[in-house]
Amino acid sequence: MKALILVGGFGTRLRPLTLSVPKPLVDFANKPMILHQIEALKAIGVTEVVLAINYQPKIMQNFLKEFEKKLDIKITCSQETEPLGTAGPLALARDILRDDSGEPFFVLNSDVICDYPLKEMIEFHKSHGGEASIMVTKVDEPSKYGVVVMEEATGRVEKFVEKPKVFVGNKINAGIYLLNPSVLDRIQLRPTSIEKEVFPSIAAEKKLHAMILPGFWMDIGQPRDYITGLRLYLDSLRKISSPDLAVGHHILGNVLIDESAVIGDGCLIGPDVAIGPGCVIESGVRLSRCSIMRGVRVKNHACISSSIVGWHSTVGRWARVENMSILGEDVHVGDEVYSNGGVVLPHKEIKFSILEPQIIM
Ligand code: GDD
Ligand code: MG
Repeated sequence: MKALILVGGFGTRLRPLTLSVPKPLVDFANKPMILHQIEALKAIGVTEVVLAINYQPKIMQNFLKEFEKKLDIKITCSQETEPLGTAGPLALARDILRDDSGEPFFVLNSDVICDYPLKEMIEFHKSHGGEASIMVTKVDEPSKYGVVVMEEATGRVEKFVEKPKVFVGNKINAGIYLLNPSVLDRIQLRPTSIEKEVFPSIAAEKKLHAMILPGFWMDIGQPRDYITGLRLYLDSLRKISSPDLAVGHHILGNVLIDESAVIGDGCLIGPDVAIGPGCVIESGVRLSRCSIMRGVRVKNHACISSSIVGWHSTVGRWARVENMSILGEDVHVGDEVYSNGGVVLPHKEIKFSILEPQIIM
């Protein structure tokens, strides 16, 4: 079986992290987002993953070479010369996706995180006999997603409305599809939206079916949602009693600490924290609801909450970083500095406190 992951888009909503790497390579729970997906695809027997790229192809390709070997899965890049949207890339990769097997293929948005119930999705797809299956989930704020109106009993989609201006329902497109090769005949090689053009027309022919996604789901393409997604993801690890979760008297709730990270004495860490490879957390540090990426140093008695600290940054002694502060790669926060929602671009030194949420260039 094959799969295509949509990895284009500029990831502007996740800046400044995406100023350093393409969005799919931003770490989530200590590994690049896209690895969560590739591993899930591999686990259910997908043998080839096509990455639909239109941005920073070199970085992606180098990264993928490494993981192709590690994960033992074929990874191909399909490179656009102009952004083709969410459907055009399928037409570009038509020849790879359509093979002699005639099997359906998966399509994934690269910024969604969940338990990836892909096996269940294959069963669902077989059971309804339609042309396309999509996963849906319920959210409180549907307007920023694609909304699906479906017949509850059968799952048949009656209507698909991308980013509706008026309320149509609260079940939204989770960004995970299983499509018959015939869907490729509906897509031309030009910038097109699968949500605005392809799904509405398949739905009109009553051949689009939706499966309610069991478990958690989050689009982690925006900082606040990223932090919420981390909480949900760690919760899901707790539910399966994952041995990856940290234990100890200094740990509160769900915490993931890479085995190469060093934690000093007298820290209190958690809930909902991820500490990446090579991090050094000095003594007396307080961390909660935050993501600390690879190679970060947090100095004595600093306090970080509800924030993301990008790769190889440092946070000074007695510093306080909170309220959706997002530090880009290689940012250095001075001793005793306070950041209240500071969004700091890469390679900056912060010597003075940021008292109100703002972007520091
Ligand atoms: N290759 C390629 N080329 N990929 C693209 C392009 C492009 O031109 N534009 C966007 N993408 C990729 C993004 O990287 C992402 O993985 C996916 O397509 C969806 O784009 P987003 O920019 O993240 O869209 P969204 O979050 O506003 O909405 C989409 O996701 C929601 C669920 O998270 C839609 O699919 C909604 O219907 C859905 O509810
Ligand atoms: Mg998104």
